[in-house]
Amino acid sequence: MSSESSARSPVGLLSTLKAYLLRERERGRLYLRLSSEAKKNWEKFLLAHPSADRPGSPSCPAPSQATSPPSSEVMPVDERRKQLEKLAQTVAKCCRCPHLAATRTQTVFGIGSPSASLFFVGEAPGAEEDRQGQPFVGPAGQLLTKMIRAMGLEREQVYIANVLKCRPNLPEGTLGNRRPTEEEVARCLPYLHEQIEIVRPKAIVALGGVALEGLLGKKALQVPPGQPISISRFRGRFLEFRGIPVMPTYHPSYLLHNPSIQQKRKVWEDLLAVMERLGLPISQRQREYFLPKPSK
Ligand code: URA
Repeated sequence: MSSESSARSPVGLLSTLKAYLLRERERGRLYLRLSSEAKKNWEKFLLAHPSADRPGSPSCPAPSQATSPPSSEVMPVDERRKQLEKLAQTVAKCCRCPHLAATRTQTVFGIGSPSASLFFVGEAPGAEEDRQGQPFVGPAGQLLTKMIRAMGLEREQVYIANVLKCRPNLPEGTLGNRRPTEEEVARCLPYLHEQIEIVRPKAIVALGGVALEGLLGKKALQVPPGQPISISRFRGRFLEFRGIPVMPTYHPSYLLHNPSIQQKRKVWEDLLAVMERLGLPISQRQREYFLPKPSK
């Protein structure tokens, strides 16, 4: 193949685009405005060349090629750690969502014990997580840490990861967080699946609708396409992901915005159910957290 034709191949075009985006990022340009026609052409390009930014392209290896965790449930902890480190290196180089690869400070892989019994799944890194490279270290993370401690555990004893490993980008000059798109979730999800496969927890807590939808999908949840998942409808009852019990509950950010005792109590009931499922000790005091105190 001539160098001109290889440069025009889908992979060649993609690496030219990637080099351009990286150069622009080095120059301090964090956003690229695309006309709606350019966006449509980009989508057409991806549809016509499904392998161009998907598993198997040289710059974005498929997770299953990057690591092949033994299917045995009893993988020694050192082996699990090694597998997670290897996967984290793959994720750090990921460019399946070129717009996120161009705007992230770093990927946010996951943290915790490689043999944790309990696995928390969140949505996507926020600004602080993007800065520190760790999940749940901002305000919602501080609340999650309190929730974990209330269960009698430390962060180091559980595993915490998000559906998305990159911070969802925002239009220039805007603040806050953006919900990941379905395409972003679909591209990133195999990494979460591998993390769960390696850690093989005994229970998963899905924090919010994006985590729940990411794990189980709208079809299994019988939610029509285009309709958002209502976490209120699903919380409090165990579902299952590949044989692992999943407890859906509210995301800690929701509690930060709705800090009523009733909402906190609902989340606590969900966590109590998880503790029971895991056989963790539960004191009377823990059972009564957030219950109205009898008047004297
Ligand atoms: N919210 C999430 O879902 N994940 C984080 O890591 C932080 C906030």
